Amino acid sequence: MHEDVSEILITEEQLRLKVQEIGKQVSSDYADCNLLMISVLKGSVVFMADLMRSITVPARIDFMSVSSYGKGTKTTGAVRILKDLDMDISGYDLLIVEDILDSGLTLSYLTEILKRRNPRSIRLATLLDKPDRRQRPVVPDYAGFTIPDLFVIGYGLDYDEKYRGLPYVGVLKPEIYTA
Ligand code: IMP
Ligand code: MG
Repeated sequence: MHEDVSEILITEEQLRLKVQEIGKQVSSDYADCNLLMISVLKGSVVFMADLMRSITVPARIDFMSVSSYGKGTKTTGAVRILKDLDMDISGYDLLIVEDILDSGLTLSYLTEILKRRNPRSIRLATLLDKPDRRQRPVVPDYAGFTIPDLFVIGYGLDYDEKYRGLPYVGVLKPEIYTA
């Protein structure tokens, strides 16, 4: 275990099984659709890479980046597009892929702007859900794990751009971000 981690919240094996389960569900729900998976950079890339390989129906992918926390662990409320999609999404069945749903500010904003581009449908898949901190009524269509209000890292999630490559989801020791 990494020395900055106080506890492993979700193991590699739990992640693998859950991603398989979501992949199965998505594959059956999108059987006759025009699936376009949209990864919200950067945190969701690990989940995205695993999820897309567990999906058995044809799927396209694209990436988008919106402003996030910077160095802090609390959201600012300001959400900006840093990198837009490459594709014209009209007529596609979008599956937004996120690492974690926290305040919901990022996803409520993203869903609104994507809706205006005339996709056929929009759904949301998040690996982690922290419902305690919700400020917008965002409800995920697919959620891996509901977790308590702790700052977590690994499996794509970072603190100050670190720890994204850890294969598990761990709790960051508070002294790391209060130091
Ligand atoms: P929201 O707009 O507050 O829902 O923010 C979601 C984004 O905040 C995620 O995509 C993450 O980048 C970041 N975030 C929220 N909670 C955590 C956490 O516990 N660890 C790492 N990043 C987090
Ligand atoms: Mg993120």
